[in-house]
Amino acid sequence: MVLPPLWCSLLAAFLTSASASSLVKHSLPDVPSGWAEIQDAELSPSRGLNLRFGLAQHGFTQLESLLLNISDPSHPSYGKHLSKEQVHALSTPSNDTLELVDGWLATHNASSVKWSSSKDSVTAVVPISSAEKMLSTRFGVFEHVTSRKRVVRTLSYSLPQDLAPHINFVHPTTAFLDPLRHGMGKFSLDGHVTTPSDIQKRPVPLNQSHFESCVSVIDPPCVRKLYNIGNYTPKVVDGRNRIGVAGYLDILAKPESLKLYLNDYIPESIGSNYTMEVVNITGPFTASSVGDEGNLDTQLAIQVAYPIPMTYYTTNSVPPYIPDQNQDGERPGVNEPYLDFIDYLLGLDEPPTVITTSYGDDEQTVPQDYANAVCQGFAKLGARGVSVLFSTGDQGLGTDELSACIANTGNNATTFLPVFPASCPYVTSVGMTLGFETQTPSFASGAGFSYYFDRPAYQDTAVSAYLAGPANPDETELQSSMYNHRGRAYPDITAVGSGAFFDYFFNRWDISGGTSAAVPTAASIVALLNDWRLRNGKPTMGFLNPFIYGVGLEALVDITDGFVNGCEQPGFNATKGWDPASGLGFFDFEKLQSLVL
Ligand SMILES: *[C@@H]1O[C@H](CO)[C@@H](O)[C@H](O)[C@H]1NC(C)=O
Ligand SMILES: *[C@@H]1O[C@H](CO)[C@@H](O)[C@H](O)[C@H]1NC(C)=O
Ligand SMILES: *[C@@H]1O[C@H](CO)[C@@H](O)[C@H](O)[C@H]1NC(C)=O
Ligand SMILES: *[C@@H]1O[C@H](CO)[C@@H](O)[C@H](O)[C@H]1NC(C)=O
Ligand SMILES: *[C@@H]1O[C@H](CO)[C@@H](O)[C@H](O)[C@H]1NC(C)=O
Ligand SMILES: *[C@@H]1O[C@H](CO)[C@@H](O)[C@H](O)[C@H]1NC(C)=O
Ligand SMILES: *[C@@H]1O[C@H](CO)[C@@H](O)[C@H](O)[C@H]1NC(C)=O
Ligand SMILES: *[C@@H]1O[C@H](CO)[C@@H](O)[C@H](O)[C@H]1NC(C)=O
Repeated sequence: MVLPPLWCSLLAAFLTSASASSLVKHSLPDVPSGWAEIQDAELSPSRGLNLRFGLAQHGFTQLESLLLNISDPSHPSYGKHLSKEQVHALSTPSNDTLELVDGWLATHNASSVKWSSSKDSVTAVVPISSAEKMLSTRFGVFEHVTSRKRVVRTLSYSLPQDLAPHINFVHPTTAFLDPLRHGMGKFSLDGHVTTPSDIQKRPVPLNQSHFESCVSVIDPPCVRKLYNIGNYTPKVVDGRNRIGVAGYLDILAKPESLKLYLNDYIPESIGSNYTMEVVNITGPFTASSVGDEGNLDTQLAIQVAYPIPMTYYTTNSVPPYIPDQNQDGERPGVNEPYLDFIDYLLGLDEPPTVITTSYGDDEQTVPQDYANAVCQGFAKLGARGVSVLFSTGDQGLGTDELSACIANTGNNATTFLPVFPASCPYVTSVGMTLGFETQTPSFASGAGFSYYFDRPAYQDTAVSAYLAGPANPDETELQSSMYNHRGRAYPDITAVGSGAFFDYFFNRWDISGGTSAAVPTAASIVALLNDWRLRNGKPTMGFLNPFIYGVGLEALVDITDGFVNGCEQPGFNATKGWDPASGLGFFDFEKLQSLVL
C-alpha cells in the first residue's frame, strides 16, 4: 500500500490541537537535515513497529541527590553505592502508571510486551495501524541521504490526555539518529587524518622495541610513561573489578584479535588463558559485523589493565532496511542504542566497574525526552558504582563547514553541535590529545556546551572561570551566539588519541585513533584505580566527576597549549584550568593513587 505523504507539521499541529483528547508529545519542524522522506514507499499497516514506552518515575530527584553524595569524597556516604534493588525501587513507576500503560498496550494489539528490569520502560511490537491510533500520527519511510538506510518514523506524535502524564517518551518515533555516527577517526601523530592507503598490513608480529621512543606510535609502555603508571600490576582479578566495553551499531570485537594484541604488547599474557567475555545483549546479527572500532576499544581498554576481567557488550541499534512487505516486525533492539544496554547492566548484581563507549550522536538529533531517560540511566549506573566514560567525537565543535552547523529547532540558527551522550552530566566525557611530547589537544577533539542539560554544580566554578577568563580575546559575536553559556560543558578530561596501536582481526595492524582511542585508554587507568581501592578495602570509584573537579584536581595534569575549533569559527583556546580544548587535563596515576585512599 502507498501511504499518503506525511502531514506537514502545521497541519499536524492543527489536527492534534483540534482533538481535545490528545496532547502533542514531540514534534519536529521539518525532516531533519541529512534525511529525506520517501514519498512512495510501501509500508504495510500490519507491519510491526518495535516501540519503547518510557514511563514517568518519581524517584529520580532522590536518586540524583544520593548519587552526588556517594560520589563526593568529602561526604560521609562516599563510596556507599546502591544495590540493584535500591536503584530499582527509585526507578519503578507508580502502580497507576503501570496499570494504565499495561491496559493501553493490551487494547492496541501490542505483542512481545517486555518490561525493563525496574519497569521504568516497556517495549512492545505494535502494528503500524494501531501505533498510528495510539499516537495520533502517521508513520512514513525516511532515508538517510548518505548511508541510504531507511527507517520508519514520524515528525510528530501525541498521547491521549489521560496517559500523557504517565509516559515520558515513545521511541523511536521522532528520533532521526545518524546511523553512521560514531567516535572513531583515523589520526596519525601529527594530527593528519590518514587515508585507507596509510593502513599498514601486518605481515609478522612487530616487536614492541620498535616503538620505545613513543614518537611514531603510542603503545602500552608509552601510556604507562605518559600517565605515570610505572609498572603497577592489578591484583584484584576475581570479578569484583571488571572493564565493560560497549559495542553499538552491530559492531563486534574478536577475542582472537585481543589475543594477538596481548601477545605483542603484554608479554605476561603469553601462555595465559586470559580472554574477554562477549555478551550479546541484542545483536549483532551478522558475522560480518567485526569492526575495527570494537577491536580498538577492547584492546586499548586492557592495555595497562591486564589481567582485569573485561566484557564486550554488543547491542544492535542499526536501523534496518525496510523490506517491502515485512509482516514480521522489526528485530528487537533495532534503533535502540542505549536503553537496552543500560537496562541489561542495571539488572546485574555485579555490573562492570568502568564502562567505555566510543559512540555518540549530535545532541539535537536525539529527542530530548529520550536523551533525559538515557542520561538518567547513566546516573543510575553511577549510583551502582560504575564509572561511565564516553568519547566526545572527532568533529571538534561541530563540523568543518559553517553551513552544516544549523539548529534543527525550526529557526535554522547557526550553532555549534554538541554530542550526546558526552553532553550528559552523569558521564565522564573524554577528549583527545595528540602526540607524546607535546600533549596538545586536537583541533578536532569533540567539545562543547549542551543545550539539553544545565551546567551541573560540580563543574560550575571551573567552567564559569573559563568563560569569564582571558583565553579567547578574539571570540566573535557569532561564535558567542553559537553555544549555551549555561550548559553542561565537556570534555571533563583528555587522553592520548593519536597513533594508538592495535591488532586487527585478519592479522593486520592499523594505526588508528581519535577520541575512540582516548576513552578506552582513560578507562584502562580508571580500572587500575578501582584495583587500587579494592586492594585497600575500599569500594570502586563510581561516578568520577565530583571527585575530578574537586580533590582529584590535584592529580590531573593541566594542558595549557592548543585549541579546539569547528564550524569555521575561531574556537576555544586551552588555558590554565578547565577549558573546552582539554577539559581538566589528563591523569597522573601515581598522584591519583595517593588521593583516592
Ligand atoms: C545528601 O547529603 C545532604 C547533605 O549531607 C543531605 O542533606 C541529603 O539528605 C542527602 N541526600 C539523600 C538523598 O540522602
Ligand atoms: C503496587 O502494587 C504492588 C504489587 O501489586 C503492591 O505490593 C504495592 O503495595 C502497590 N503499591 C501501592 C503504592 O499501591
Ligand atoms: C486489533 O486486531 C484486531 C484483529 O486483527 C482488529 O480487528 C482490531 O481493529 C485491532 N485493534 C486495534 C486497536 O488496532
Ligand atoms: C621479534 O622478537 C622475536 C623474539 O624476541 C624474534 O624471534 C622475532 O624475529 C622478532 N620479530 C621482528 C619482526 O623483529
Ligand atoms: C585459567 O587459568 C587459571 C589460573 O591459571 C585457572 O584457575 C583457570 O581454571 C583457567 N581457566 C580455564 C578456562 O582454563
Ligand atoms: C546475538 O543474538 C541474536 C538474537 O538472539 C542472534 O540472532 C545473533 O546471531 C547473536 N549474535 C551473535 C554474534 O552471536
Ligand atoms: C530552514 O532551512 C530549510 C532548508 O533550507 C528551509 O526549507 C526553511 O524554510 C528554513 N526555515 C527558516 C525559518 O528559515
Ligand atoms: C587563542 O590564542 C591565540 C594566541 O595564542 C590568539 O591568536 C587567538 O585569537 C585566540 N583565540 C580566540 C578565540 O581568541
